[in-house]
Amino acid sequence: MLFCMETLKIRGGKPLQGQIRASGAKNAMTKLLVASLLSDKKCTFYNVPNIGDVEITVNLCREIGSDVQWDRKARVLEIVTPELKTSYVPQRYSGSNRIPILMIGALLGRTDQDIIVPTIGGDLIGTRPVDLHIAALQRLGARIEYREMKKEGAYFAQAHQGLHGAVITLNYPSVGATENTILAAVRAKGTTLIKNAAIEPEIIDLILFLQKLGAHITVEADRTIAIQQATQFHEVEHTVLTDRNEVASYAMAAIATKGRVFIEGAEHLHMIAFLNKLREIGGNFQVRPTGIEFFYEQPLRGGLHLETDVHPGFMTDWQQPFVVLLTQADGTSIIHETVYENRFGYTKTLKEMGADISLFTQCLGGKSCRFASQGHHHSLVVKGPSPLKAKEISIPDLRAGFAYVMAALLATEESTIGNVDYLDRGYEDLVDKLVALGADITRHSPFLTASSH
Ligand code: UD1
Repeated sequence: MLFCMETLKIRGGKPLQGQIRASGAKNAMTKLLVASLLSDKKCTFYNVPNIGDVEITVNLCREIGSDVQWDRKARVLEIVTPELKTSYVPQRYSGSNRIPILMIGALLGRTDQDIIVPTIGGDLIGTRPVDLHIAALQRLGARIEYREMKKEGAYFAQAHQGLHGAVITLNYPSVGATENTILAAVRAKGTTLIKNAAIEPEIIDLILFLQKLGAHITVEADRTIAIQQATQFHEVEHTVLTDRNEVASYAMAAIATKGRVFIEGAEHLHMIAFLNKLREIGGNFQVRPTGIEFFYEQPLRGGLHLETDVHPGFMTDWQQPFVVLLTQADGTSIIHETVYENRFGYTKTLKEMGADISLFTQCLGGKSCRFASQGHHHSLVVKGPSPLKAKEISIPDLRAGFAYVMAALLATEESTIGNVDYLDRGYEDLVDKLVALGADITRHSPFLTASSH
């Protein structure tokens, strides 16, 4: 993957104060675009975030045959795919994000051609296999094989005999595997049951969209999702839900810097686990009719035990900035990462900045997870409060990137942050939003002498 050479310069030590608006959710919008490929009907989306991952997905859809009009300022995007130009995902998308693999589920019922998806990429967290996706699609009647190609491999998928409903039990409630299966099942004959399915808010948003499109989907209380074949499709208008990851990120930055930030559009329903943990360490919030205000009132208390989990648990994407928050809390806290086996790599830099963090391969806390005795560093102990020092930092993945921004906002000297593309993929107007909250942050291009916001 190519990275731009732009950097952020941050001089911390100032509390974040003010109001920002929550953007549309990256993890919903990208999937909604792929889902629109299921039919030839026009889909209009509102509250579309202007971020790198949406841009990549739009370009990918255009390659496949979509006509896309995107008014970035108005945050409105129209997409229609009257017919498929190709079902071959170009190689250059293979390392871009986790979206190309979902093309298989979306296109299987729409084309007789092979769907070819080069090996997928995404953040460098764990091995991120797609075995659950492939096994579920095969249960629906797809034939999928992995072939070695010149530079890397690719999945070849087809359903020449048609797709048929099936009972699929996921051995782990994977978000991507659930989405891929739902997409394929919408065009599969009969009824599909996904047991032990993921039920993240972004998946529910996808289901709401698909229902408008013509699908018949039921979410049962026991993590079972039932999908019946759709016989007719309709034009859709859909407002994308707000980004709970972005909301949590700014909330933690506000409290860590001892500030006060109102986030317009923050949705209480999707933040329950996060708000509980925030309150446990003494972080304050007030839910208002139009959003949530987050504020610092008292020294933060450590002594927390936190386990990341699938929804409705504490989301893994909140983990990295939360660790930065805990470096400012008085006492020792334990984090057990149960979703990804390798999501603590970013702590090395935090330690160099002054954080007191130790990693462990054991499952710390009450519960044993599927990574027990695999030797991965997936538990940590963080002791605070620790003053953080400025540093030159290179971002390894999206959420670690925000954790570093937060750490830089806490250090009083100037930090320089590289690999800004990762942040651009998921945070709309990051610099503008932080400037609006009073942060001393500028963006620098090696080709320009002046800094820009
Ligand atoms: C999505 C989100 C990501 C979030 C994650 C968990 C997007 C674009 N990304 O990622 O931000 O952190 O959900 O909430 O929506 N797994 C397998 N086999 C598979 C699929 C997954 O073993 O076939 C494992 C993964 O290695 C990982 C765990 O399941 O350990 C969770 O992955 P999954 O829920 O699929 O995450 P993504 O959909 O990739």
